[in-house]
Amino acid sequence: MASTSSEWSSRLGFILASAGSAIGLGAIWKFPFWAGVNGGGAFIIPYILFTFTIGVALVIAEVAIGRRGRGSALTAMKRLGGPWFGYLGAFAVFSSFLIVSYYSVVGGWCVSYLVDAFTGNATSTDPEMLKNHFNSLVSDGTRNTAWHFVFLSLTCGVVIAGVEQGIERLSKYLMPTLFILMLCIIVRGLTLPGAWEGVVFLFDFSFEKLTAASILNAMGFTFFSLSLGAGILVTYGSYLSDKTCIPSSSMWVAVLAIQAALLAGLMIMPAVFAFGLEPNAGPGLVFITVPMIFGSIPFGDVFAALFYICLLVAALTSSVSLLEVVTAFLQNEWHLSRRTSVIGCWISLFFLGAVSAFSFGPWSGFTIAGRNFFDFLDFICTNFFMPAGGLAVALLAGWRAWPVIREEIVAVRQYSEGTVKLIHFMLSYLSPILVLVAFYQGIFG
Ligand code: PFF
Repeated sequence: MASTSSEWSSRLGFILASAGSAIGLGAIWKFPFWAGVNGGGAFIIPYILFTFTIGVALVIAEVAIGRRGRGSALTAMKRLGGPWFGYLGAFAVFSSFLIVSYYSVVGGWCVSYLVDAFTGNATSTDPEMLKNHFNSLVSDGTRNTAWHFVFLSLTCGVVIAGVEQGIERLSKYLMPTLFILMLCIIVRGLTLPGAWEGVVFLFDFSFEKLTAASILNAMGFTFFSLSLGAGILVTYGSYLSDKTCIPSSSMWVAVLAIQAALLAGLMIMPAVFAFGLEPNAGPGLVFITVPMIFGSIPFGDVFAALFYICLLVAALTSSVSLLEVVTAFLQNEWHLSRRTSVIGCWISLFFLGAVSAFSFGPWSGFTIAGRNFFDFLDFICTNFFMPAGGLAVALLAGWRAWPVIREEIVAVRQYSEGTVKLIHFMLSYLSPILVLVAFYQGIFG
């Protein structure tokens, strides 16, 4: 993948790696529960709108900045926009560092459930038991930290050994397997009595349910799910061949990311209603619902094991992309070796992640702005830091460096003047305005 070769071998390689970064725990763990907490359609409809407007435009901009600047987030942004944009690129790298610390805690839950699946303990039809099982895992700080350590070590191992190419290749098979499994679960879920209510909940849009919080969360989730504003697509873009068309590849990434999230929603929500669970049950939703569905099909344990293997690989392709950005930065800017960079990250991320891991149980009393440490980190990274990174990209691409970004956009395929103008409008006006309004609402609303 990116770090080991100077260029992607093909357009498909780039799309798969970017989609690999995009599709992960965001789509499968976070999307269903955020949709549940934010009122279903009132979250999903804005999410779809954000994805196909500012989302795609910013993917195009990040990739174009990377390809023109040919360097890490900091280097590329500095080359195109001067030192201040370089600092903003460094800030994006810092966001990646923070995200991977708590992402790894959720990754650890996946490892734990995978082990359960192998020992035949991953399925049940008793919701109370499943809830207790999840709660006992997350409230046990030590166990939670141990699983976080395992997931983090896997991530660091992949980055240090430079075997990303291997896991990209693996994910070429496992991602389609994950989709097929999700489709099977969806079919099973939809045939349960009462499941249709879940579909209605997901797509029924009513204005009354739309709140400032649901819009801010939908925008934040768009950034999270497309891996925007954290330097990743700039880095990936820097390995992109001049022969690849940026807008069409970016559209592919967005389409793949959104379909993964929507499939996950359809996998979880109908079953939630059919089993009489609460749609706003929070972070445990996937870990309670999926085992129940597997509990109601033949060979459920085998399917569960396969599902958690796929989920783990999906999570790893995302966490590896986050860590890759940080290590590339440490190598380029601090002149550390790859090994030292990864080991430094391993140690510091272990401790930072441990605080998140303990924040569900022993340290749940320690709150910032009414949230435990894990939720607070997720809240500021998703709703503020990543959109702020996106804002910087929009200002750079839409204002400061538009002539070269424009060249990148039309380099391979001659898009109509109208399309180019639309992309420019989304970068220079729509994205900054939407991000600023959402910030304002989020802080003062
Ligand atoms: N997009 C990933 C997911 O949805 O799981 C998470 C993520 C990866 C967020 C990379 C941010 C990022 F820069």
